[in-house]
Amino acid sequence: MIILGVNAYHANASAAIVVDGRLIAAVEEERLNRVKYAAGLPARAMQFCLDQVGAKLTEVDHIAIPRAPRARLATKLRFASRMPRFALDRLRVMKRFAGMREDIAGAFGIAPESIRAQFHRIEHHTAHLASTYCVSPFEQAAVLSADGLGDFASAMWAVGEGPRMRMLGDVRFPHSLGIFYTALTQYIGFWKFGDEYKVMGLAAYGQPEFLDEFRKMVRADKPLSFKLGLKYFTHQSQGPEMSWREADRTPVQGRLFSSYLEKRLGPARKADEPLTSRHHNVAASMQAALEEVLAAHWNALCDTTKQKALCLAGGIAFNCVANGKIFALTPFERVYVQPAAGDAGLSVGAAFAVNHQILGRPREFTMDHAYWGPSFSASEIRRCVETVRGEDDVRIEELDEQTLLETTARHIADGKILGWYQGASEWGPRALGNRSILADPRRPEMKDILNRRIKHREIFRPFAPSITEEATSEFFEKSHPSPFMTFAYAVRAEKRDVIPAPTHVDGTARLQTVSRTSNPLYWKLLREVGRQTGVPVVLNTSFNDNEPIVSRPEEALNCFQRTRMDVLVLGNFVLERKPATLKPERSEAGVATGLK
Ligand SMILES: [Fe+2]
Repeated sequence: MIILGVNAYHANASAAIVVDGRLIAAVEEERLNRVKYAAGLPARAMQFCLDQVGAKLTEVDHIAIPRAPRARLATKLRFASRMPRFALDRLRVMKRFAGMREDIAGAFGIAPESIRAQFHRIEHHTAHLASTYCVSPFEQAAVLSADGLGDFASAMWAVGEGPRMRMLGDVRFPHSLGIFYTALTQYIGFWKFGDEYKVMGLAAYGQPEFLDEFRKMVRADKPLSFKLGLKYFTHQSQGPEMSWREADRTPVQGRLFSSYLEKRLGPARKADEPLTSRHHNVAASMQAALEEVLAAHWNALCDTTKQKALCLAGGIAFNCVANGKIFALTPFERVYVQPAAGDAGLSVGAAFAVNHQILGRPREFTMDHAYWGPSFSASEIRRCVETVRGEDDVRIEELDEQTLLETTARHIADGKILGWYQGASEWGPRALGNRSILADPRRPEMKDILNRRIKHREIFRPFAPSITEEATSEFFEKSHPSPFMTFAYAVRAEKRDVIPAPTHVDGTARLQTVSRTSNPLYWKLLREVGRQTGVPVVLNTSFNDNEPIVSRPEEALNCFQRTRMDVLVLGNFVLERKPATLKPERSEAGVATGLK
């Protein structure tokens, strides 16, 4: 039984394949076509998934599409009658999805009628909910999806019991925590799709000075419900404007905050203006308001479902700062967040919704690691390395595993910036030890060095640590697993000076806990780093430089060559750049921030 999940014509296009109830592969199109947040039809991702199971498209039994244009039709029609542009947009979407069989056939160069798969339309939030609950380790759980907007809802919740989820409620357009967060992200001067996490990092620098005003913008109005103060926003009158730049299919979001919001909070920051303490305080107020609403919602969900476990998905589930507070603010004891909690995860969710909700099959899969993307053989990696053999500026060694681990740990301990490329690439936006840039977390200057040399991003954004599962409670005040970097916990006060580089200004860190079973090689590396330095922690940031995370070994090598990385570990090869050949550093990192 082959089920292909396809998130198409939507930001974070992706594909996933489930065979006999088990996930075999999943990948975002951006990793393959190298366009960040790529939308469109993810034909390369679909082909990759099919290749992983050795099947042709014509052999697929079910194709699961996480979009149901007819969902909440009455609500849609009500708004469409008031907003002609919105009505046209809906029509375009319906037409696009109606022609999907033909589009897929066209992309694969086959006749539409040769696709024998049954097509299923899975409502957006049902797919989000399935993306987390159906692959979680829980037999039963409360499940919550919250994002900007999908199929005209911004949140939906359910209780999962065995293979089934029972939907309990939703929050519909125009009320949306995701739109609230994106609108304020724009107001603070960050306009790119996906910039919300930057503002989450900025919030730690401020105080929630404007919280009273923010409580008028968003509030939990009764149990399991929240409302926006609509006059602060524009989407309810103009429609949720989302388009795709034709040139590269990158998503573009229209302005979401109103002039009334500017009247209340002052003029919006322009992207090139310095960030001031007022902006920090706006960000802190926004984060505090979001956390208040989420805490009310989590608690109401716990009361209603009487569950001890919670599964989260949707873009809001990437708010690791809020997630880290669930244990303190609610009775939930265990929380699972799928690594691709955003819309990329919809392909996995749609496939599992078909498997369990439609086909009624039992659960037999847990996603306990994130390595579902492309991997390359030792000979492919060797071929890649051979292309630079003989160049004067790089020393190349091929090492056995133990020597590789000792050498890599020594480079990290010596303060080198090291690209670490191993195995299959990660599912979701976080590098989790297979496509990572690693550095020594004990050096306070490492964050600035990484920014100057490689990442070139805003200096207020924290870098994250990876730590062995066994050492988590020694360094952090909470030890609940965070295998996908979706929780921020307080670093123990006495350890903040031990790992200053990934410790954020508020004393927290967005950690990845690494278990021996989820990524044995990375776990062994952390253990070796611990043996050499006494600290089984590395600073782990994604292997890229303002591009999608590298997928192929050639992309890793290219990133190594064009940045000021010291060492590249590519499979069993160590490529070390001779120091005299390093390029000069860029003089400044990212935008003017007003932060030292
Ligand atoms: Fe979504």
